[in-house]
Amino acid sequence: MKFDIAVLPGDGIGPEIMRQGIDVMTAVSRRFGHDVTYHYAICGADAIDKVGHPFPEETFQTCLNADAVLFAAVGDPRFDNDPTAKVRPEQGLLDMRKRLGLYANIRPIQTFPGLVHKSPLKDELVSGADFVCIRELTGGMYFGEKYQDDERAYDTCIYSRHEVERILDVAYAYAAQRRHHVTVVDKANILATSRLWRQIAKEAASRHPDITTDFMFVDNASMRMIQEPTFFDVIVTENTFGDILTDEASCITGSMGLLPSASTGLHTPVFEPVHGSWPQAKGKGIANPIAQILCVAMLFEHFALNREAALIRQAVTASLDANIRTPELQPKGLPHYGTADVGRWITDYVTNN
Ligand code: IPM
Ligand code: MN
Repeated sequence: MKFDIAVLPGDGIGPEIMRQGIDVMTAVSRRFGHDVTYHYAICGADAIDKVGHPFPEETFQTCLNADAVLFAAVGDPRFDNDPTAKVRPEQGLLDMRKRLGLYANIRPIQTFPGLVHKSPLKDELVSGADFVCIRELTGGMYFGEKYQDDERAYDTCIYSRHEVERILDVAYAYAAQRRHHVTVVDKANILATSRLWRQIAKEAASRHPDITTDFMFVDNASMRMIQEPTFFDVIVTENTFGDILTDEASCITGSMGLLPSASTGLHTPVFEPVHGSWPQAKGKGIANPIAQILCVAMLFEHFALNREAALIRQAVTASLDANIRTPELQPKGLPHYGTADVGRWITDYVTNN
């Protein structure tokens, strides 16, 4: 297959982990005879510094014209501590999601058998946890009307029937391929938007009698997720709840550096790690490239190239089993491997196996 991939390395550790993702993608494409062209584009703080906007029009066009976007991370502490900043790197990510119509963010949470002990949770709780969080990505408070002066501020949470129906469709499609269980997470005891979600989800549930649907308040879901993560199969929830729950869920796997995600919708799909730009680690070569590399696996899966994806997943598991791990995962006393070492090992594996 011929691929045009838009590559957005962004800020912080983004460029370092992206290099490893690209090497793996190139190696796998060579092995399976795919013809990939990379189109690099700027975003985030990097783009603010260069052209004054975190998601420039040229970057948007590059994304729009590509078959898929490989995205790393945006964010820079220069902006975090300045509530008066007029432009922010994160706005670039939100612009990209909105302009590409990426309403569904798919965040799979899986444990790696050899890493169960790295989770702050007890082994017996997390082993076997395997669920996917479907986060609505272009609605809710992130995009509703906002206001701020020195005395008052508000963020509006708005959802339309259409927005809820289409994200539920994604959730049921995933459940049908998995263990036939959807958990709708909301705050319907308090929020009007949640009550609309629940009403529409009940309609959807009755159209899918083969799938078990249950409803959970978000506060309760956040507890259940660490008390009994194996309960979940497919979680579907609105934007802000999904943001919070998926950071929490990353603790189940033992490292945020292991979690990829896919964002799909109206235009070009985007594949991005769940973790952020980790500016403190920038240039140190210690960031885990695995989330980025697994984004490449998700990219191949999106195009039904499952053998390519399976090879990448196998390589990642083999690297972890062989203790070729970045510092946050490496047991004491074993040699430390950096971002490029782990990336190179996985690239060699996919080339030679
Ligand atoms: C994420 C991130 C983003 C979000 C930030 C960087 C805007 O936390 O992808 O989860 O809040 O959606
Ligand atoms: Mn987040």
